[in-house]
Amino acid sequence: MIPINAPRLGEEEIKAVVKVMKSGFLTHGLGAGPVVTKFEKAFAKFVGAKHAIAVNTGTSALHLAIAGAGIKQGDEVILPSFTFVSTAEVIAIAGAKPVFVDIDPETHNISPKKVEKALTKKTKAVMPVDLYGLPADMQPIKDIADKHGLTIIEDSAQAHGASYKGKPVGTFADAACWSFYASKNMTTGEGGMITTNNGELAEKMRFMRSHGEKEKYKSLMLGHNYRMPEIQAAIGCVQLKKLPKFLAKRRENVKRLTAELGKAKNLQLPKEPKGCKHSWYLYTIRLKGPKGNKRDKIVEALRQKGIGAEVYYTTPIHLMPYYRKFGRYRLPETEKAAKHVLSLPVHPGVNTKQTGFISESVLHLVG
Ligand SMILES: Cc1ncc(COP(=O)(O)O)c(C=O)c1O
Repeated sequence: MIPINAPRLGEEEIKAVVKVMKSGFLTHGLGAGPVVTKFEKAFAKFVGAKHAIAVNTGTSALHLAIAGAGIKQGDEVILPSFTFVSTAEVIAIAGAKPVFVDIDPETHNISPKKVEKALTKKTKAVMPVDLYGLPADMQPIKDIADKHGLTIIEDSAQAHGASYKGKPVGTFADAACWSFYASKNMTTGEGGMITTNNGELAEKMRFMRSHGEKEKYKSLMLGHNYRMPEIQAAIGCVQLKKLPKFLAKRRENVKRLTAELGKAKNLQLPKEPKGCKHSWYLYTIRLKGPKGNKRDKIVEALRQKGIGAEVYYTTPIHLMPYYRKFGRYRLPETEKAAKHVLSLPVHPGVNTKQTGFISESVLHLVG
């Protein structure tokens, strides 16, 4: 099976892990050991942010950003429903209400116009997601946020290497949250990071990452244990160096797939709108017309051929059993997309022969 994504780990990562193990220093009780600090500095530089706070998962990064921004019970946070559940989960954990809005069917990202319509007196924050690695349309969202005094927390979990208006994603947000889960463009196994240019927020999140402590056993605020271990950071430092090569390989695979799949009339291919650079975490196509209803059969047929096609995401969050309590939403574009999209492997381990096989198989099934 050609998996939808797969980590690329080599001797360099193994050596870096062994070095940490030999040092005997595995974690720092107050948040960041020397390797974590090195990883934070390198990642901050990569995304052009003043501060980076490493944590143990992308979900922890999102929760820390929400908690750091002071989101609490009674507040509302606007987000897309067409995303991984973590984006909504952390709002619910904070006791606030996730307010779901529809997407733009061309990009599958949150529609800024729908954000404006969903504003109430209780709205405190907006959480755009760079879905599949394509930057959300941040300028209009920033304009709305500035006008209404809202915090922007960008879910950039899938967008390492993506840029918007020539700047790395996250630049237009108060805080951007990243994941280093094993499938991501770069990985630490499990891991996450928050980047921000706000020094005060960064300091608060650093304390919250480790029980709200500045000094041992003197919690200044409510916190958690979201610390990243040194071994993970050691893998992250190596993966970050390799990331440009990984991204170039993904882009190459995307170019080949697009050239072939462009021949099909009933497919909507992923785009890179002007001024945006995709990270190509996922290459997500959409079935148009009558073939749309055959999506699940096509995914199954591709899998039978050994192509690890996957659907992100089959159930929009507002339709998940737990999240129905937050209200009944009419999100037609989200619901249509959830029925018609499917993603194909473009990760750096996919070779020319395999992209040829993938496009040939898709064309045969949708033709
Ligand atoms: C859009 C999105 N948000 C949040 C997360 C959560 O990250 P993690 O799995 O590292 O907790 C992920 C990744 O799984 C994701 O794809």
